[in-house]
Amino acid sequence: MHIPVLRRELLELLNIKSGGIYVDCTGGAGGHAEEVLSKLTAGRLIIIERDPDAVERLKERFKGNPNAEVVRGNFKDIGSILKGLGIDKADGLYADFGVSSEQLSAPQRGFSFKLDGRIDMRMDYESGESAVDVVNRYSESQLAEIIYKYGEERFFKRIAYHIVSRRNLHPFENTLDLASVIKQAVPKKFHKQNQHPATKTFQALRIHVNGELEAAESLLREIGKCVEKGGRVAFISFHSLEDRLVKEYLHRYKSPCSCPPEFPICVCGKVPVFKTLTKKPITPSDREIKENPLSRSAKLRAAERI
Ligand SMILES: C[S@@+](CC[C@H](N)C(=O)[O-])C[C@H]1O[C@@H](n2cnc3c(N)ncnc32)[C@H](O)[C@@H]1O
Repeated sequence: MHIPVLRRELLELLNIKSGGIYVDCTGGAGGHAEEVLSKLTAGRLIIIERDPDAVERLKERFKGNPNAEVVRGNFKDIGSILKGLGIDKADGLYADFGVSSEQLSAPQRGFSFKLDGRIDMRMDYESGESAVDVVNRYSESQLAEIIYKYGEERFFKRIAYHIVSRRNLHPFENTLDLASVIKQAVPKKFHKQNQHPATKTFQALRIHVNGELEAAESLLREIGKCVEKGGRVAFISFHSLEDRLVKEYLHRYKSPCSCPPEFPICVCGKVPVFKTLTKKPITPSDREIKENPLSRSAKLRAAERI
């Protein structure tokens, strides 16, 4: 079962009003949702999730709770999802980006380089291109670009070359096969003790296949319109690309002025939309990391609508 990360910290920052409307953009196993629901007496929690299996589990978990509404969808469509539910603005919204333990530990979902299954990696496995199509069909330069851009992997060129050389002999099907080809591509002296050499490439393929950064950016672009004054937003990221995006957007919302620095006063007229609640990102305690090693790279940032 997925263990919710930075649970107490997230809840504190959201400052839940018992009758408010909240949006969980990444339902997952419902751990964070459960915490928020425990604070709601009359309010609503809209739980968005794009993975069909997770949606079924969330519906089952919260079926007796009148305050919970599970919606299958992509948070990039936050505006139309809320509109469809008759919600103009919410009192708070949060997202816990990335994959869940349920997705990682299901071999048939093809997310893991440790469990053998067909290379898939789609959160919504009913639509879009799967990772097996990407590794078998993309050009070497396209693969290299994805591995570099979304994996920040220094051996991106070698890995792309090895993938293409191998698939020319025999197309890829399974995760362990792909992981071992990537491992061979990374020079042995750069193998780390605590990280499989395929970690970053698998991350890159997953981010690409699910359009994760594009979805996060669409959500961040919309939050000003979706949240009431005084309402809070919070985001938990697991890699630097996502955290950078959150940081940049929250900074822009806090200081939107686009006047040249030499101007003595602001003439652009852009006013702050959010104030930041976390000067630096909140990270898990040593204790949390010990209890849940998957939390180790989590970063939480939050802001309040003004
Ligand atoms: C880290 S898990 C969330 C775990 C959850 N907070 C909990 O406590 O159980 C991320 C979840 O977000 C979902 N997800 C990722 N991107 C999404 C998107 N663009 N729209 C909707 N759901 C998304 C994934 O399918 C996954 O189940």
